[in-house]
Amino acid sequence: MIYCFSGQGNSLAVAKKFSERLNQPITHITNESLDNAESLPEPDTDRPNLWVFPVHAWGVPKVVEKFINAVGAAQCTKPDTPPSVHHMVATCGDDIGLTDRRWARMIRHRGWRVGGVFSVQMPNTYVCLPGFDVDNKALVDKKLTMAGGDIAFIASRIADHRADGMRRVTPGSMPWLKSHVLRPLFNVFLMSPRWFKNDYKRCNGCGLCAHVCPMGNITIVDGAPCWGRDCTMCLACYHRCPRHAVEYGCATRGKGQYHIE
Ligand SMILES: Cc1cc2nc3c(=O)[nH]c(=O)nc-3n(C[C@H](O)[C@H](O)[C@H](O)COP(=O)(O)O)c2cc1C
Ligand code: SF4
Ligand code: SF4
Repeated sequence: MIYCFSGQGNSLAVAKKFSERLNQPITHITNESLDNAESLPEPDTDRPNLWVFPVHAWGVPKVVEKFINAVGAAQCTKPDTPPSVHHMVATCGDDIGLTDRRWARMIRHRGWRVGGVFSVQMPNTYVCLPGFDVDNKALVDKKLTMAGGDIAFIASRIADHRADGMRRVTPGSMPWLKSHVLRPLFNVFLMSPRWFKNDYKRCNGCGLCAHVCPMGNITIVDGAPCWGRDCTMCLACYHRCPRHAVEYGCATRGKGQYHIE
């Protein structure tokens, strides 16, 4: 099974490539699937499972953490079930800090076996701080080309059962500081939906932002989006708005948009 969460489509594009190469189905991680946890496909015990998701503030996105704890609950009650093997493929713009350590801890906590951990650099989607913007076209093309090679390598290792124990990630500089000091600060001050607003002059009330939100966190009221509190900060509402009418405070003013089908 391939469990995938994706905001702008980077992780989904990667998951689809693995799905083709390994002939495995994809289960999409959304708030809706979390609400129906008991009917979710359980991890495979006869072949490896993959977790494909974006790195958020040098860690695992909130919704993915919830999903890890929710999926396969019925399996845990069957004592003779062999432990399933799980690999991580985290997509990132630059580096992942210690995301893999956190993910592996959660997987082990569920009684599952950790296989290999991998990161794949993809175009950046984080735009909510000064100095952070989407990548230019040349860098997008370069990252996508390199990602193709990374995916082929990882998939061949998984298919040959040679991925177990591998750690092929980009932790970046000072990974401990990023994941254990900066990440909690991000979570408190910068991972909140309270700064989202729409530019009413540009917004035409089309409702696409509500439609693409994986958390069902946006409702259209009187022709304009209203953000609730159940947000995983994927930024799909910002990047997918066809009128570029979603802003995150003043931080996104003049910034670009990105998504991949
Ligand atoms: C809220 C947020 C936080 C992010 N934090 C990081 C990060 O810590 N390190 C990094 O390299 N990229 C970071 N990114 C970039 C994404 O991980 C990267 O662009 C990813 O491929 C997006 O995948 P998606 O389209 O499947 O959501 C962040 C993006 C968002 C929206
Ligand atoms: S997608 Fe953009 S234009 Fe459409 S309702 Fe949302 S903010 Fe308005
Ligand atoms: S409100 Fe926007 S950032 Fe938050 S989960 Fe929905 S689409 Fe993602």
